[in-house]
Amino acid sequence: MARRLSRGANLVIATHNPGKLREISALLAPHGVVATSAGDLGLPEPEEDAPDFFGNARIKALAAATASGLPALADDSGFCVAALDGAPGVLSARWAGPEKDFAVAMARVNTELGAHEDRRAWFVAALCLAWPDGHTETFIGRIDGAVIWPPRGTQGFGYDPIFVAAGPASTFAEMEPDAKHVISHRALAFAQMLRSCFGD
Ligand code: IMP
Repeated sequence: MARRLSRGANLVIATHNPGKLREISALLAPHGVVATSAGDLGLPEPEEDAPDFFGNARIKALAAATASGLPALADDSGFCVAALDGAPGVLSARWAGPEKDFAVAMARVNTELGAHEDRRAWFVAALCLAWPDGHTETFIGRIDGAVIWPPRGTQGFGYDPIFVAAGPASTFAEMEPDAKHVISHRALAFAQMLRSCFGD
């Protein structure tokens, strides 16, 4: 039986990234949820060493719920390329190196793909909601599409300039943010969570 969140509930967002906190708080605000970040509470950042997105989201959510005594929400996401056996996957951020240079990460995808005919790729977002008693609920969103080269567009972030979703001809980086946010892996995962927790 899925656990529900009540209106006015305090929820810790297990992130130290202010951009993520803003985006997630805005999604939760209509449900009366009061969101505070793990960063604002001074909680330590656990090491994300799981082999998959669910595992990493679970590590972050459980660490924040246990340390704060409040329910906590974490997300973990990444870009997967079929012909690279799902890489960069959980290493999506690390492929950009210490400078967080996604031109480098995208060039590596292109180099490793070479002339491979299979251009299929997808974004995944895993969400984990954890309670201090160790109960967890997980949700996943995935959007399928293809890798294109050269990169196109200036909106968005990360691997957006080399990803075209099945259907539209534009890359994620050529779409208006509102249009991307309706179909993205993150939106799909959040829609599932909101349905489960608030019955939307
Ligand atoms: P994390 O979930 O903050 O660890 O993000 C993992 C990485 O996945 C990001 O740094 C991006 O490289 C990539 N990523 C996740 N979602 C997106 C997206 O919507 N567009 C482009 N890149 C993304």
